[in-house]
Amino acid sequence: MSNQITPDRYHPIHVVLHWLVAIVTIFLLAVGLLVFPNTPNSQELQMLGMHKTAGMFLGLLMVGRLITRFVFKRPAPADAGHPLLNLAGKVVHFLLYIGVFAIMFAGGSLSLAYGLDNILKGIGTIPEDLFIYPQLSAHGNISYILIGLIAMHFGAALYHQFIRRDNLLSRMWFGK
Ligand code: HEM
Repeated sequence: MSNQITPDRYHPIHVVLHWLVAIVTIFLLAVGLLVFPNTPNSQELQMLGMHKTAGMFLGLLMVGRLITRFVFKRPAPADAGHPLLNLAGKVVHFLLYIGVFAIMFAGGSLSLAYGLDNILKGIGTIPEDLFIYPQLSAHGNISYILIGLIAMHFGAALYHQFIRRDNLLSRMWFGK
């Protein structure tokens, strides 16, 4: 039966969601680590509002992606050439999902703790020292873990593409 055949690549909707998640995640990490520390106080609220909106958009993408991951057929597991590397690949994929959900949870919980929604509506001001909230340290620490995971993931994609030459990237792209 044709619908039992294992596909060569991920479903196009899952591919779109993978790359949108990748772009938004890397954008948010870059803003959080490089732009926020240099943002003048006068623009802090505007930046936090944009960061929150982008974070919620990422949440929607991640939920959609989780659904498409289980609804559509996936290609057979990639072979990195060693059982330990294959296991590492699975663990990193799993931790990428956990990491993105965890950083969003910490960020959302932080914004609820100091009332960002009301501050955006003009009620109250941003607390002087946000570090009194443990959610901020959690949000920051998870961001470093995520960067490490993305670096390993990116490195693995390069390893497959240029050393094993198995064209792994085509599995996360469009085509017949
Ligand atoms: C930096 C650029 C990126 C490249 C070049 C890349 C490349 C790829 C490729 C080629 C695959 C298919 C692997 C396979 O078939 O086994 C894949 C899968 C995957 N990627 Fe990425 N990726 C990138 C960024 C990201 C980011 C930022 C995340 C998460 C925040 C992510 C999460 C995942 C996950 C969880 C999978 C497993 C399949 C799935 O469940 O969607 N990737 N990636």
